[in-house]
Amino acid sequence: MSAVIKIENLTKIYKLSKRREVTGLLNFNLEVEEGEIFGLLGPNGSGKTTLLKIMLGLISPTKGKVEILGKRMDNVEVKKDIGFLPENPYYYEYLTGSELLDFYGDIFDLPENVKRRRSQELLSTVGLAKVKHMVLRNYSKGMLERIGLACALLNNPKLLILDEPTTGLDPIGGRETRDLLLGLKKEGKTILLSSHFLSEVERICDRIGILDQGRLLAVGRLKELLKERKVETFEDLFIKIVKNNV
Ligand SMILES: Nc1ncnc2c1ncn2[C@@H]1O[C@H](COP(=O)(O)OP(=O)(O)OP(=O)(O)O)[C@@H](O)[C@H]1O
Ligand SMILES: [Mg+2]
Repeated sequence: MSAVIKIENLTKIYKLSKRREVTGLLNFNLEVEEGEIFGLLGPNGSGKTTLLKIMLGLISPTKGKVEILGKRMDNVEVKKDIGFLPENPYYYEYLTGSELLDFYGDIFDLPENVKRRRSQELLSTVGLAKVKHMVLRNYSKGMLERIGLACALLNNPKLLILDEPTTGLDPIGGRETRDLLLGLKKEGKTILLSSHFLSEVERICDRIGILDQGRLLAVGRLKELLKERKVETFEDLFIKIVKNNV
């Protein structure tokens, strides 16, 4: 196995004004292996989205290094192999679901036949085949999340980065997404996701990382972390780690 994600000493300080700064991420180190599902957890404002955005090259770090699939994150080539679902995606409201996938397929420069086949398959996979001709402005929150997931998978990425992939989904959608992610893992894909749903993370993630105030406070397999910190449940672990960090 080789590391798909290598993060070294990553720090992000947001400058609000000359004197005011906010720490987004502080000396963050992490390696994620090929075929792993890694779950990022942490209270609101702990730095999860900051980390994912730096990995995507959407914002630049103050300090530190990110390597994805052996390439520096500022190498555009690597983006061909990444699928990303943002926390609050913004889509063109007057495109239909089908047209949105078409648009993303063109950005990825997919051949016409591949684009059409994958779009149709993915619309079924995420349960939107019936509404593929409806404009996105009429999609519900969960439907937008589903189309976002389809967009993230369109380029058949080796690495999937998902910022809270199931927040707006109903219980059936949540289960379907979890099953989908486990299926992708079986295909050898690597998945990095952030979530506030402990039960979801517990069910699908091989390893987890708990962040608070921009720092990675614990990382490992859930079972081992429970033993190490002498707690019974994931919730107790989360609360103990975050409360001890004040
Ligand atoms: N563009 C920005 N400018 C200034 N500060 C920011 C910016 N984006 C994030 N921050 C700050 O960085 C910190 C980390 O925010 P981030 O969005 O990464 O947290 P998060 O863990 O994703 O939270 P949530 O669970 O609510 O999504 C917070 O203190 C936040 O206020
Ligand atoms: Mg976030």
